Amino acid sequence: MRKALMICLVGACVKGNPQPDDPSFSDLGGTLPIEGCGYSVTSRIGAEAPRVGNPASVGADPTPRLLHLGLVGDARTTMVVQWRTADEETRATEIRFAEGANLGEDALTETKTGIEFGYKSTGSEIYRMHQAHLCGLKPDTSYSYQVGSPGHFSSVYTFHTAPNVADKPDAEVVFAFLGDSRGGYDVWQQLVQHTIQRKPDLVLFSGDAVTVGLTQFEWEEFFGRAEPLFATVPVISAHGNHDVNSVNYYSQFALPGDQQNFGLDYGHAHITVANDTPEDIAAITGAFRAAIQTDFEASKNARWKLFMHHQPIWSASTRHGSSTFLKDSWNPLIDQYKIDLVLNGHDHDYEVTKPLFDGQVKASNADGTVFVVAGGAGAELYDAAREFWTEYSEKTYSAAIIRVGRDAMTMDAFRQDNTAIPTGFSKTK
Ligand SMILES: [Fe+2]
Repeated sequence: MRKALMICLVGACVKGNPQPDDPSFSDLGGTLPIEGCGYSVTSRIGAEAPRVGNPASVGADPTPRLLHLGLVGDARTTMVVQWRTADEETRATEIRFAEGANLGEDALTETKTGIEFGYKSTGSEIYRMHQAHLCGLKPDTSYSYQVGSPGHFSSVYTFHTAPNVADKPDAEVVFAFLGDSRGGYDVWQQLVQHTIQRKPDLVLFSGDAVTVGLTQFEWEEFFGRAEPLFATVPVISAHGNHDVNSVNYYSQFALPGDQQNFGLDYGHAHITVANDTPEDIAAITGAFRAAIQTDFEASKNARWKLFMHHQPIWSASTRHGSSTFLKDSWNPLIDQYKIDLVLNGHDHDYEVTKPLFDGQVKASNADGTVFVVAGGAGAELYDAAREFWTEYSEKTYSAAIIRVGRDAMTMDAFRQDNTAIPTGFSKTK
């Protein structure tokens, strides 16, 4: 039997990713090719291998819960719907859908069987995760859907696919940017509600969703409070240190590639995402740095370049402040590839830097990268401060809205009470 890992954060220790004694539950993970999508889904140690849903297997409580959308493939033509069922036995996994917004149940004429797998974290309970992967969708198009099993379907929600900017070069896309909800789920819910008003196409979450990634009841809060947003807008997450590389994290977010270091195109933007808390810290200067460089190189001709990871390279907060380790390891790549905007959390305040290149303040953001910290999505706030490179800082709960068009990218942020934060970001090309 493998030895269970002990994870200790903020004074609490929990046993992680245990080896269950249940012989019917194999926790070794596995990989399943997704029919019609051209990609595979891989589950981690602590989870079962993914398998195609079984329509005949319906347990005592098959009601779909914690609906949220994700992206594994091309944002223009694919979408992943994820949900949980409360019982362990329900393996029936189905999506009903049709092109068009806000359709009634009777209009959902297409069906597809999804995949499912169970996972365990700190106890013996099996959390049953379901995923429906839709591929071959039309760009810039609304679809209505519901998920579950016959007699136990969810409400009907609508999502919208990303535009194909080759066909629609004037298309503007809207990203919501939030991070560090952990432990502050009332604030998280308020910010989510304010975010919905702003009609984002994609949510970028910079990590630390929960206080300890292995505690499932916190994930219920995170996903449950955000369901009105996440059931209609896909979420892309960067792994945060409090997510502790948990089986819960990797089982509940559908993300491209290895779910840690990846890139995706959305509208005129390319977003590179990285895990700056790897299981082996040597990866920061080794494999993960190489993965970031590979994605930066592959996307070097993108119109707008964003880079999201959790721990800030530039932060004037008195709590964590700038990570010199990440600065030494990753900032030269940010300079080399002229990343427009870096998105971080970890410090629970709101900060925007002046344009920076090689550690020096530049007069124009045409000549440097702007770094944003917006780690105020619910966790207790940290004190903000100022450095010579600080454009703006404030100790406040916050979320941001990033608008990306062909010739301009802007960012505006707002507080828990929905008032505007005066300083954001604006750049034209
Ligand atoms: Fe953090």
